[in-house]
Amino acid sequence: MQLETFNLTKRFGAFTALDGVSLTVRPGSVQALLGENGAGKSTLVKCIVGYYRADDGAVMVDGREREIHSPAAARDLGIGMVYQHFTVVPGMTVAENLLLARGHLKALIDWKAARAELDAFMASAPFRLDPDATPLDLSAGEKQKLEILKQLFLRPKLLILDEPTSVLTPREADEVLCALRERAHAGDCSIVLITHKFREVTAYADDVSVLRRGQLVASMPVAQSTPQQLAAAMVGEARGAVKTLQREPRAEGEARLGIHALQVRGDRGEPAVRRLDLVVRAGEIVGVAGVSGNGQRELMEALSGQRAREGGEVRVDGQPFHATRRENRVLKVRGLPEEPLRNACVGELSVAHNIALRSFDEAPASRWGWMRWRAVRRRAQALIGDYGVKTQGPGAAIRSLSGGNVQRAVLARELSDDARLLLVSNPVFGLDFAAVAEIHARLTAARNAGAAVLLVSEDLDELLMLADRIVVMSEGRIVHETDAAQAERQVLGSFMGGRAHAAQEAA
Ligand SMILES: Nc1ncnc2c1ncn2[C@@H]1O[C@H](COP(=O)(O)OP(=O)(O)OP(=O)(O)O)[C@@H](O)[C@H]1O
Ligand SMILES: [Mg+2]
Repeated sequence: MQLETFNLTKRFGAFTALDGVSLTVRPGSVQALLGENGAGKSTLVKCIVGYYRADDGAVMVDGREREIHSPAAARDLGIGMVYQHFTVVPGMTVAENLLLARGHLKALIDWKAARAELDAFMASAPFRLDPDATPLDLSAGEKQKLEILKQLFLRPKLLILDEPTSVLTPREADEVLCALRERAHAGDCSIVLITHKFREVTAYADDVSVLRRGQLVASMPVAQSTPQQLAAAMVGEARGAVKTLQREPRAEGEARLGIHALQVRGDRGEPAVRRLDLVVRAGEIVGVAGVSGNGQRELMEALSGQRAREGGEVRVDGQPFHATRRENRVLKVRGLPEEPLRNACVGELSVAHNIALRSFDEAPASRWGWMRWRAVRRRAQALIGDYGVKTQGPGAAIRSLSGGNVQRAVLARELSDDARLLLVSNPVFGLDFAAVAEIHARLTAARNAGAAVLLVSEDLDELLMLADRIVVMSEGRIVHETDAAQAERQVLGSFMGGRAHAAQEAA
């Protein structure tokens, strides 16, 4: 399918998020779409699939102008979209989610026939998932694969993916993108791929386009571009250098977080964390490496009080720790969970309120039980400026922010008041390259200032760069530990791969 947009424009109130964008996606090609957080990438593709109604301009499919009023209308034209945020139904199985993707369920499903069709689809699918698992059992990476399978099941002629790889390991990303490119080049469908990773553009895209502040500022074959050139197009000329890491040598600090024989169950009641021991000291970043789904999420949830602990003990500064609001405040424990919009924000509330969530009952936000909204707003305004959160103002609903800017707002809140212990999961998912450098610098600064940081990441490069020590988690246990300076990627990879290899051989 050939897709063209002509002069596409979208305003939110007085703000122009998309400004006269004319873009062509060639049939059978992979088109990458780059741009800073808030540049308008999601808005553009949401206009194409009828999720938003453009204020001006047109969408042409195979040369014919089409009015696409809704995602369902787009689907009928053969246009599918994998959204930046998950849309899977948590309570339903993988199989049910796939069938549901068609939108119009018959009142009576012939389960046997449907199951046979699904099995056939799964057999030809580029990656496998257990049809009977529910999304609750799935890691972020697996959920993302389910989102993609849902769309492929509909046999689209154009598939748009909004940052599909931000929750995938590099290996999973390669697997997914390789499969998608194959489909495109076979002529089955055209692909639009939104990403922040130049590596993926270079390796998998045919054409690349760059958005900046709602305008299309570059569009060319990948072969004629360089990452430097693309980066420059993204940020424009007038921009200072990005922050760099300043790691200070550290002295061995006191144990701040002590985990002893911790046991945690997964959503299905299976053991997810198995008698895990770990100490994180003041002034160090301990990186937890591992393939997603090996207990990292359950570990972090148990530490931050979002999941019951089955056994064992957690101490902070030597005191038993249960992550109550009071303990978090007194001990200055802060964190960034996965999917912050869902797990760390109230979407309907404003950016200012969300930034105040941690401290709304303390001075200066509150005095004698009264909220002092002026103080809340002032503080929010300062943090928005300091962390470069792109928002129409502190009063805008946090849900209206672009994905990367939600992340920044949460980080602004969590890092702002001298955290002593930071529990962080995949902190730069979905951030543009400048923001990644900035967040890394801020985490390093927290460490330099003496904070203990537990950093879960599926990105080995990130761990190798940031961590002082790296542990590898596999099947709920720590199977390897090493000083980051001495760590060897291959060795880490082989410990990480333990389970993945076994699963592949079984398949
Ligand atoms: N529903 C909305 N209401 C108000 N403003 C919005 C809405 N949706 C998006 N915006 C604004 O439009 C701009 C572009 O947002 P968009 O989500 O398209 O960015 P993006 O390029 O996808 O960024 P990211 O990389 O962070 O996902 C942002 O400044 C955002 O705040
Ligand atoms: Mg986006």
